[in-house]
Amino acid sequence: MFNQHFSKIFVIGGTGAQGLPVIRALVADNKYSVKVLTRDDTSPRAKSLLALGNVELLVGTLANEASLRTGFHGCDGAFVNIDGFNTGEKAEMYWAVRAYEIALQEEVKFFVYGNLDYASKKGGYDPKYRAGHYDGKGRIGEWILFQNQWNREKMGAALFTTGPYIEMAIASRTIMTPAVEDGVVTWRVPMGEGEMNAVALEDCGVYVRWLFDHPERSNGMDLEVAIAPMKFKEIAAAFEKVTEHPSRYVDTSLEDYWKQREAWGKMPAGYNADPKDQSTMSAKDNFTGFWNIWKYSLLKRDYRLLDEIHPGRIKSAEEWFRKENENGIKLGKGSLWERVQSENQVPILKIGEDGARGKL
Ligand SMILES: NC(=O)c1ccc[n+]([C@@H]2O[C@H](COP(=O)([O-])OP(=O)(O)OC[C@H]3O[C@@H](n4cnc5c(N)ncnc54)[C@H](OP(=O)(O)O)[C@@H]3O)[C@@H](O)[C@H]2O)c1
Repeated sequence: MFNQHFSKIFVIGGTGAQGLPVIRALVADNKYSVKVLTRDDTSPRAKSLLALGNVELLVGTLANEASLRTGFHGCDGAFVNIDGFNTGEKAEMYWAVRAYEIALQEEVKFFVYGNLDYASKKGGYDPKYRAGHYDGKGRIGEWILFQNQWNREKMGAALFTTGPYIEMAIASRTIMTPAVEDGVVTWRVPMGEGEMNAVALEDCGVYVRWLFDHPERSNGMDLEVAIAPMKFKEIAAAFEKVTEHPSRYVDTSLEDYWKQREAWGKMPAGYNADPKDQSTMSAKDNFTGFWNIWKYSLLKRDYRLLDEIHPGRIKSAEEWFRKENENGIKLGKGSLWERVQSENQVPILKIGEDGARGKL
C-alpha cells in the first residue's frame, strides 16, 4: 500500500499564477519545503516566494536536463506545471515526458502533473476543439497515468487538471480582459451560451496540498477541478450583483474577436516555439479551439468529489467576486469596480507581466 509522507517538493512554474497559491498552501504550516525552478531569481515574484520561508530558488530552465536533474535531486515530491505558452505544444510534450522520467531516476516519491483536459479526445477528435495548450498537457497526463500502472509503488503520480483562472476575467492582458464601455463593464468573448469550467487560483493551492497529503488515495488520480459550470452572462451578472455597477457579456463572433487581436492572432501560441515549424499553432488557431471547448460545454467535473476534498471551496462566480472584492479592499488594491478600470488593471499571469518574453 502506498502510504508515505513527503517533505521537500520540487516545483516547476512556481512563480506563475498557478504556482504561487500552490506554494503558499504547501509551506503555510511548515509541513513541506519547496525548491522552485525559475529563470530569474531576481523577479518580484521569485522574491515574494523567498519571503514565505521554507522556499529555495534554483535558477535554470525546464528545457534542460541538468536543471531538471538538479531540481528533482533531494526532493521527494514534485509539482510540475510546464509553461506551454513558452515552449509551444511540441516542446512541452517532450519536456514533460523527460521531467517524469528524470523524477523517477532521482527517486522522487510523488509526482503531481499540472494538467489540462485532453480536449481533442474528449471532443471525439472534432477539429473545432483543437487547442495545443490543452492537448499538449492532456496527452501527457494520460501517458503519466499509464506509466503509473507500473511505477506507482516507486513513484506515485497524480494529475491536477484545471481550467481558465477566473482571475483572468478582471486582469489585464488576458484572453478575457474586460473593458469599461460607457460605464458598463463589458466582456466580449466568443462563448455563446456555453459553460466554462473556470477555477479559483487560491483553491488550487488547497487541492494540490490535498494530493500530497493523501497519496494513498491520490496515487493514480486525475483530480479535475473547477468552481462550477458558468455561462459568461452569469459571470457578468455576478460581477454586477457584487459591485452594483452595470456589467454585461456580449457574445462575439470568432471573426470579430480576432479582428480585435489581429497581430497577436498571427503569433505562435508559445512565444519560443518556432513559427516556421508546421507543428506550431498560431494564437488564433489555438484559442479558437479553446473558445469552442467552452462554447459547446465540452468538459465535465465531479463537483461532489470537489466538495468532499475541499468543503470550503469557492462554489460560484458570485462567491469569488465577493471574496475578491473584500480582499482587494483590505489589501489596498481597491474594489473590483476600481480594479477593472483600464488604468488600474494588472496582470495575473507572469507571461502578461513579462510581456511574453524570456528564454526557453
Ligand atoms: N491561464 C490559465 O487560465 C491557465 C489555466 C490552467 C493551466 N494553464 C497552464 O499553465 C501554464 C502556465 O502557468 P501559469 O498559468 O502559472 O502562467 P504564468 O503566470 O505566465 O507563469 C509561467 C510560469 O512558468 C515558468 N516558466 C516559463 N518558462 C520556463 C522555463 N523555460 N523554465 C522554467 N520555468 C519556466 C515561469 O517561471 P519564471 O518566469 O520565474 O522562470 C512561471 O513560473 C501553461 O502551460 C498554461 O497552459 C493556464
